[in-house]
Amino acid sequence: MCFPVGYAAVFIVPVLSCRPNEYKTNDGQCCPMCNKGRVVRKDCTVYAGTQCRFCDLGTFMNQPNGLYNCFPCTSCDTGHGLFVKQNCTATTDTVCDVLNGYYCKDLTDSNGCSLTEKHSQCAAGQRIKEPGTSRSDTVCEDCQPGFFSKDGVSCTAWKVAVPHHIICNNTGIILYTVLL
Ligand SMILES: *[C@@H]1O[C@H](CO)[C@@H](O)[C@H](O)[C@H]1NC(C)=O
Ligand SMILES: *[C@@H]1O[C@H](CO)[C@@H](O)[C@H](O)[C@H]1NC(C)=O
Repeated sequence: MCFPVGYAAVFIVPVLSCRPNEYKTNDGQCCPMCNKGRVVRKDCTVYAGTQCRFCDLGTFMNQPNGLYNCFPCTSCDTGHGLFVKQNCTATTDTVCDVLNGYYCKDLTDSNGCSLTEKHSQCAAGQRIKEPGTSRSDTVCEDCQPGFFSKDGVSCTAWKVAVPHHIICNNTGIILYTVLL
């Protein structure tokens, strides 16, 4: 498949720079760029425009270009807390987002994520002040004096032991207790 783009803008003498919608070939000529989703198959000549080809499956090109290869699509690594939010197309890269229990450490331009971290667990003696989200880590807070937390989730007040007498009958069976 070939897709000549416009007419060839070829200069015989190598040029320093090309116009915005043109690219410079290896031998210094200016040729019309290929559109998104395509790359150069053959540079333009005096007789013909640039020949472009579509990106193969698993590759993409998201800008007008004078490149000879499409970019490989990003894969979303579930082992690192990512899943596919939007599949790769010929003109856009894959967009990854964050699995539950992880948050994003590196957002991409397309509002996707390229790097995640697991949510932190709060330590014993702390509580979860704010649960982690897909964009932020867990916020922990120390328990106030008089409170404790064994699991690092929430703080509980210490129960103060109440002094009391235990009244038993003569076989040692507790009948009732009396607060002092
Ligand atoms: C991406 O493509 C795969 C395979 O074609 C499909 O199973 C999946 O549902 C697609 N995911 C999204 C988010 O479109
Ligand atoms: C002691 O109290 C228990 C429970 O009320 C009762 O069953 C038991 O008979 C009592 N024993 C005596 C010796 O009073």
